[in-house]
Amino acid sequence: MPPSTSQETLDRLGTGVDQLSAFHDGDRLGWTREVFSEPYRASRDWTAARMREAGLDVHVDAAGNIIGRLAGSESSAPALVTGSHTDTVDGGGRFDGIVGVLGSIEAARLLQESGTPLRRDLLVVDFLGEESNVFGLSCLGSRCAAQELLKEDLDRRDYRGLSLGQAYTDYGLDPARLLDVPWAKAPLHAFVELHIEQGPTLEKQGLPLGIVTAITGIERFIATFTGAADHAGTTSMDDRRDAMVAAAEAVLAVRAEGCGAPTHGVATSTRVESESRSPNVVPSLVRMYSEVRSVDPAWLSGVKGRLTAEIAAKAGGLGVDVGFEWSTDNSVVRADSGVQDIAGAAADALGLPWMPIPSGATHDAVHMAALAPMGMIFIPSQGGKSHCPEEWSSTEDIATGVNALVGTLRNLDAT
Ligand code: GLV
Ligand code: MN
Ligand code: MN
Ligand code: MN
Repeated sequence: MPPSTSQETLDRLGTGVDQLSAFHDGDRLGWTREVFSEPYRASRDWTAARMREAGLDVHVDAAGNIIGRLAGSESSAPALVTGSHTDTVDGGGRFDGIVGVLGSIEAARLLQESGTPLRRDLLVVDFLGEESNVFGLSCLGSRCAAQELLKEDLDRRDYRGLSLGQAYTDYGLDPARLLDVPWAKAPLHAFVELHIEQGPTLEKQGLPLGIVTAITGIERFIATFTGAADHAGTTSMDDRRDAMVAAAEAVLAVRAEGCGAPTHGVATSTRVESESRSPNVVPSLVRMYSEVRSVDPAWLSGVKGRLTAEIAAKAGGLGVDVGFEWSTDNSVVRADSGVQDIAGAAADALGLPWMPIPSGATHDAVHMAALAPMGMIFIPSQGGKSHCPEEWSSTEDIATGVNALVGTLRNLDAT
């Protein structure tokens, strides 16, 4: 940690993580604070209050993003934007996204207290609902900022049959106005997101910082297997058209693609649902939910074709029909090389060693990249754990990230 980090900064970051994590759903594992939930709603009032306390001028846009503005000396110049998210996955931790929001608020405070104001306005943002949620769509707030939320996305339904549009309405946001946000109307100078790595690389390398080179693309699919219901006691193994077995073969095919992928390619199946409730009926209708990720767009498009063909062939051999619904959660996005250089130079000036690093997780930065040159700064995650209650980054490591963010914003302000 550079000597310039004050005890006040460490205290604010440490208590901030503790206080924010108190807003969680006690009925779920870990530190669950899902988008649109009551703990999330309550936590965002807390976050807005922290922004105000840090001297920011706060408003909430029509897409539910909380924006705190620190006025620069030349407010007509394109603004700098930083921030992340405060929602978690089900069973998630206390640092994913949260470090980027609390860290940005602290960075704004430090810039203000330095006595040397920025020339540009600085916007600190808590984007609404970044995590992929029960509607299967990530980055709701930043997607709206970039005008990338599609009308049909509002018809997505969760496991209870509730539509995303209705969830917005119930939360107090007008689904017809979600794209009525000012982001795309004025040019932005740059977007920088501070985030935990969510993987083990920095810790293994003993490095305090990573400068992100690219953010993974994500392709998801739902495969629906249709076989035939039959008596589980009297139908011979040869005569069955078992949809569950076809899904099981497909789970293994997805895993095999991930295992055979070039570096940073992964493939995961998260859910298999059968319509059969009786233990004595051969399953006839099964749905399976999977995703593949990579920073290599060519591998991603190849894997779509291969998996579709291979899963269909295996199912066909079992007498089972299969249909696919593929959707792109996001395409591969490269970080702006200029912002990477500037962030690297800021780390060097602070004497902080760093490495270029790809991101296997997605981020609000993916969508903000459509609006401004984008960069990300990673800090280490203990044991590489993330999206689980054990997720941990030390307050000292967070403070180091804040220092790098301050330096990066200062350098960007001058360009
Ligand atoms: C979100 O964190 C994701 O990478 O899916
Ligand atoms: Mn995150
Ligand atoms: Mn996450
Ligand atoms: Mn994420």
